[in-house]
Amino acid sequence: MLTAWDYPTAKILEEAGIDYILVGDSLAMTVLGHPNTKSITLENMIYHTQAVAKGAVKTPIIADLPVGTYDNPQDAVTNANKLLAVGATMVKIEGNNPEVVKALLSNNIQVVGHLGLLPQTAEKFTVVGREQEVAEKIKQDARELSDLGISLLVLECVPVKLAKEITEAITAPTIGIGAGMYTTGQVLVLADIIGLSDKKLKMVKQYADVKARIRHAVSEYIQDVKNGAFPTEENSFV
Ligand code: KIV
Repeated sequence: MLTAWDYPTAKILEEAGIDYILVGDSLAMTVLGHPNTKSITLENMIYHTQAVAKGAVKTPIIADLPVGTYDNPQDAVTNANKLLAVGATMVKIEGNNPEVVKALLSNNIQVVGHLGLLPQTAEKFTVVGREQEVAEKIKQDARELSDLGISLLVLECVPVKLAKEITEAITAPTIGIGAGMYTTGQVLVLADIIGLSDKKLKMVKQYADVKARIRHAVSEYIQDVKNGAFPTEENSFV
């Protein structure tokens, strides 16, 4: 699984054969320039999900419900339906709120859970679950969510051992980000793996330096225009 934020990124991911596309609320930082995910709005998520759905016509699309839009079952169902209406296949919510999950599922809305580091409410961005008590709570939440019938469970920034134990203990497939090699699948933020983000994170592997490529292309274009190498007759109409 990888994140996408618009038509071209979704199209590229689908062409490359990704299993799931996440319209993650991390686009608040990577695309909209906000300091964290707390400022993302439902309207932002609808706008980006709609664009992603135009580019990915076969791949299941998971859309994040932003913080504050699923505080009670009724809001969760109403707002999730808005994301489904523009092309999301499932919605992802952070934490364990059984009443919200039950309401979504009973309205035929597929749910992706998200445990461990919860960016929508976290005060510190760090590994979660090193302490026995916290690890037990995450395990218990994972069991509960899986038993309720969620489709997938994202585990973010948890110790490898905890992610492995959860993966072995529950029916829902786990998707790790900074959770080691034993989860069922992996997710990363596209901007991070292609080198578009400003930060370098330990849990990320960068596969391309798209920022440098774009900068280079733009500099060449500027030079060409300034020294008359572009446009030529080839690029002109008679
Ligand atoms: O918003 C996001 O990008 C996420 C991560 C789990 C990838 O939720």
